[in-house]
Amino acid sequence: MPKAHSHDHAHDGHDHSHAHDAGFPDHVELGARPRRNRKSASLRALVRETLLAPSDFILPLFVMEGTKKKTPIASMPGVFRLTRDLVVAEAKRAYKLGIPAVALFPVIADKLKDKRATESANKDGLLQRTVRDLKNAVPGLTVITDVAMDPYSSDGHDGLVEKGRILNDATLPILAEMALAQAAAGADIVAPSDMMDGRVGYLRAALDSFGHEDVGILAYSAKYASAFYGPFREALDSAPKHGDKKTYQMDPANRREALREAQLDVEEGADMVMVKPAGAYLDIIADIATSVTVPVAAYQVSGEYAMIMAAGKLGWLDADAALMEATLAIKRAGADAILTYGAIALAEKLG
Ligand code: PBG
Repeated sequence: MPKAHSHDHAHDGHDHSHAHDAGFPDHVELGARPRRNRKSASLRALVRETLLAPSDFILPLFVMEGTKKKTPIASMPGVFRLTRDLVVAEAKRAYKLGIPAVALFPVIADKLKDKRATESANKDGLLQRTVRDLKNAVPGLTVITDVAMDPYSSDGHDGLVEKGRILNDATLPILAEMALAQAAAGADIVAPSDMMDGRVGYLRAALDSFGHEDVGILAYSAKYASAFYGPFREALDSAPKHGDKKTYQMDPANRREALREAQLDVEEGADMVMVKPAGAYLDIIADIATSVTVPVAAYQVSGEYAMIMAAGKLGWLDADAALMEATLAIKRAGADAILTYGAIALAEKLG
């Protein structure tokens, strides 16, 4: 019996507080000592609830025109815009480390941008060429492409802009053309990140009618109008030229609305749903993971990565350890897949 004697002592009318200062508190009846399960590395390993593995990660890659060139992104240490050949090399490296998928984002020249994001449907556009290269060079790798107008739009918005308004239904055919070009190039999964209503169902129908029924849809279902996308927009030079994205991306204050978005996307045919950003939205990840039956992805976005790396550079924290902890927390919350700019560094450490 644990601490059978402590009762006697507690009720014998004497003040034993001094003697008990260094001992186990009287009021804990069962001798519960959670620390027992933490006393050695092997025991900690045995009882660990969440395990990160390289197979949890999706590596986002920024692709630009040219060959054998990489340009740094100031706010994202260790992340570069890469020409196609270097994207292929980086993807190979990731795949060898056990990372199953990459997500591609093209850097589009200003002269190719217009209101209708015409370049996004170009069969031989930068993104489509990159997808073909990747599928040739690393056939086993899952290639995910983003469906949204912003990298191609002269307005820097995810939808078609008319008189300062983002038109929902008129955007859908543009997204469908984009997704079809990506699917035709060999994309395994298209990932609408635009937050237009009805786009998942629209894309599913378009893909199916052109024989792409095996191309999956990863829906950015709960994508918030977040301040954490800043570095990404710098990388692609894709910031909105006017206004903000609050009429389509979600209000960070809302939780139930995220469930509604995810449920609608699943009903419309999403194969996976995503929460974005991740770190400040762990409650949303947890809610969605328990309410849908499709896999849940979470995007640790550019600003989350930038914060950790910046503090690391200042010597204020250990960036590698913080990145590991932040992604572990995202998985613990319920994410099955995590997009992170730290995927390669993490996979190397998890080895
Ligand atoms: C485009 C898109 C964005 C991100 C992914 N796809 C930016 C935005 O919505 O403005 C952000 C990713 C990141 O910050 O890492 N629709």
